[in-house]
Amino acid sequence: MSGIFTYHNFSLQDTPYLEGQVAVVTGGQAGIGKEITAQLLLHGIEKVIVVARDENKFKTAYDEWRVRKGIELTQDDSRVTFVKCDLGDIEDVYAAAKKIKEQTEYIHILICNAANILFAKELTRRLQEDDDPGAKKVYVNSFSPGNVVTQQWQGWSEHLGRVVGVVIRGLGRWLGQSVEEGAATAVYLATSPEVSERGIRGGYFVPIAKGEEPTRLARDGDLAREVWDWIDDRVAQMLGENWQSGK
Ligand SMILES: NC(=O)c1ccc[n+]([C@@H]2O[C@H](COP(=O)([O-])OP(=O)(O)OC[C@H]3O[C@@H](n4cnc5c(N)ncnc54)[C@H](OP(=O)(O)O)[C@@H]3O)[C@@H](O)[C@H]2O)c1
Repeated sequence: MSGIFTYHNFSLQDTPYLEGQVAVVTGGQAGIGKEITAQLLLHGIEKVIVVARDENKFKTAYDEWRVRKGIELTQDDSRVTFVKCDLGDIEDVYAAAKKIKEQTEYIHILICNAANILFAKELTRRLQEDDDPGAKKVYVNSFSPGNVVTQQWQGWSEHLGRVVGVVIRGLGRWLGQSVEEGAATAVYLATSPEVSERGIRGGYFVPIAKGEEPTRLARDGDLAREVWDWIDDRVAQMLGENWQSGK
């Protein structure tokens, strides 16, 4: 049993058919990301590019997706591919971006399974102020998956001992969200027509698909700009001032 107290504003069954769309999902081969990838495949997406470090985890996930009812994947199906990347290493991220560009001309859906509310807020502001009319058609939002017992929760045993870890995971399974419920808010934000119809931008969502005010710190526009500039500086130091030109 899980999710007994979970509010529902969206069901995975409401996911629209995603024919012709291309998605990139970071960490899309384990935990909540693996379920997000599965849902996109179940709803007819043309291609999902999974970005993560461990290709063996991807192969294991691939075997699971193949036998899951409703997902039709062949042995080496190009509908789902793996790009190896450590997101903590900016040069690796740059190389991965180039590999993604080789695989697709468009990205319709980008799910950063480990993103930052402030970054999403500042990106939204920049897109809204951009002269390119295409920028106004990009919707950036943040989500919390809730409390989903995944590999990460093994950490409780490492910090507090095996018995306490087992108890916490047991409570999490009972009171928290299932992996499908954890994936649902991301799938809603990435696919629901409601997002563009209602002009949902720079928002923060909790399970399932419920808009919520984040903390005061996470709403701080000045801090969001500082975070953006700090990241931009670090990237420029590593890749050179003209890194955005892609040369
Ligand atoms: N589970 C929860 O209760 C919970 C609650 C709140 C927020 N979250 C957030 O939701 C996200 C997914 O959580 P989860 O529970 O599904 O975690 P998980 O089961 O540990 O999976 C994490 C995924 O991220 C990838 N990853 C981790 N570090 C990476 C790196 N440096 N570069 C590239 N990929 C990396 C992992 O693949 P590789 O190891 O192959 O790289 C894996 O696919 C995380 O950002 C987590 O903080 C989770």
